[in-house]
Amino acid sequence: MDTESHRKELLRKLSRNLMVSVPVMTVVAMAGMSAVSENGLGLIPSAEAAQGEAEGEAKGEAEGEAKGEAEGEAEGEGEAEGEGEAEGEAEGTSEAMKEAVRRPAGYEPYDGDAESLAKKGEALFSDTSLSANGLSCAMCHTGGNLYKDTFANEYPHFVAMGKSDFGMDKVHLDEMVQICMVAPMAAEPLDWDSEELAALTEYMRIEQDTFQKR
Ligand code: HEC
Repeated sequence: MDTESHRKELLRKLSRNLMVSVPVMTVVAMAGMSAVSENGLGLIPSAEAAQGEAEGEAKGEAEGEAKGEAEGEAEGEGEAEGEGEAEGEAEGTSEAMKEAVRRPAGYEPYDGDAESLAKKGEALFSDTSLSANGLSCAMCHTGGNLYKDTFANEYPHFVAMGKSDFGMDKVHLDEMVQICMVAPMAAEPLDWDSEELAALTEYMRIEQDTFQKR
């Protein structure tokens, strides 16, 4: 099955199942992940296109380049794992996309009360409207799903997806939120100074705490 029909099938399943329980949703989300691993970052092209548009509007930059690279990515190799192919994969993600998940210069996160941020973050974690493909963070990560052992390490740290798809040696926690926003969620990154990003980041600290104690 090609990437596009695989995605359509996934979206059909998702919309059919939106009312059902979390375990079923998780299974559907896992199907989504297999789309990711079978096709390289199969879910990225739409995010790339969206990003291209955003960049084009914002800075009048060439949108065609981002789209062209997105197509190259879709034809790319299968496995996302393994140090060996990290270089090749990194070339597949557009420069705009790599830039978008890195902390900007002079970055000042939204400053809020940790407890209320965590609460908002918990709600956002299950919010499918954050993504462009019907997924929520929770569909992949409920019960500590899909996190690798690196999640237990103090940030910033090495994350396989950060290296292979974005060429980053180390990622901060808020950068990891942005990576999952643009890659598996196929969405645009959150505004760096937004309450949403601060909230999700704060909630992920609690997730990390739970993960460390597992
Ligand atoms: C389609 C499934 C999927 C969705 C949806 C998803 N993620 Fe992830 N996430 C992954 C995978 C796969 C990894 C493991 C990446 C790695 O270690 O290379 C991961 C890893 C992570 C990590 C830990 C990285 C580390 O080792 O330090 C964090 C934090 C995270 N995701 C946050 C989020 C947030 C926040 C959202 C929602 C905005 C989200 N994820 C949505 C698949 C997903």
